[in-house]
Amino acid sequence: MAISDSKDRSRRSAAVAPVTRSSKPAGAASGGQPVVEFRGVSKHYDGGDVGLDQATFSVVRGEFVFLVGSTGSGKSTVMRLLIKELDATEGTIRVAGHDLEEIARKRVPYYRRNIGVVFQDFKLLPNRTVYDNVAYALQVTGSSRKEIRNKVPDILRMTGLSTKLHNYPDQLSGGEQQRVSIARAFVNHPPLLLADEPTGNLDPETSIDIMRLLYRINRAGTTVLVATHDQAMVDKMRRRVIELSRGRIVRDEATGLYARDETTREFAHRMRGDGTRPPGV
Ligand SMILES: Nc1ncnc2c1ncn2[C@@H]1O[C@H](COP(=O)(O)OP(=O)(O)O)[C@@H](O)[C@H]1O
Ligand SMILES: [Mg+2]
Repeated sequence: MAISDSKDRSRRSAAVAPVTRSSKPAGAASGGQPVVEFRGVSKHYDGGDVGLDQATFSVVRGEFVFLVGSTGSGKSTVMRLLIKELDATEGTIRVAGHDLEEIARKRVPYYRRNIGVVFQDFKLLPNRTVYDNVAYALQVTGSSRKEIRNKVPDILRMTGLSTKLHNYPDQLSGGEQQRVSIARAFVNHPPLLLADEPTGNLDPETSIDIMRLLYRINRAGTTVLVATHDQAMVDKMRRRVIELSRGRIVRDEATGLYARDETTREFAHRMRGDGTRPPGV
């Protein structure tokens, strides 16, 4: 489906002309191609709870965006609408130009292949090793055994898990389990990665490592949307912030001020916040 083409375009253009790092709100107006567009989107749950109330925003290719707000403000509702686990009550949602309302139920699994999803509670398969948890994501999308043999070690190296291939999830720390879940979400190199409270179960130091990994994924060209209520982390990251309160967008601002060509090492160093330059820079 066409959204897969946009993945390829996104990777190509990321290599040729890196997307601007000064992520601006109202993405479409800043000139980039919108990957996510919400226009007047509301979600009313059965029973009357309002999940989302007239939300309008867009996210352009290559952006890293935080979705913040207290518990119950609607962050997960946005994520679940994006993976079409829920349908909007009103308004229009487009992903890579596709109106989600027009995607037939039976096409939803194909649509979801374009989106990596990371959850607070990891959602790993407990009876499979690290290697098999990641391989499984490729199996279900029809990759050949050769592809799996090539891709899994690569992604596990990128996520720092090469020595844990044969471990089961209960033999890993929380941070390592979240790395596996990120490896699984990213192994197909989706154009869009969603993370719903990815550091919610982790200590601050481990959370920085997880954010560093998401930052690397973003730098490689993937658009990243992270829901969190970790205000300290958001302040340090200095990325665009969309804030929800009772389903309404109450703030949408670029929080720039970070080095344009910051490496992930410099990034991690800044996040740890001792103010000195990283060794060797
Ligand atoms: N399945 C559901 N059924 C009914 N109400 C729900 C459901 N999921 C979420 N809600 C309600 O929608 C609102 C937004 O929830 P949610 O999107 O989960 O917020 P957040 O992720 O920011 O904590 C809350 O009032 C919540 O109670
Ligand atoms: Mg939530």
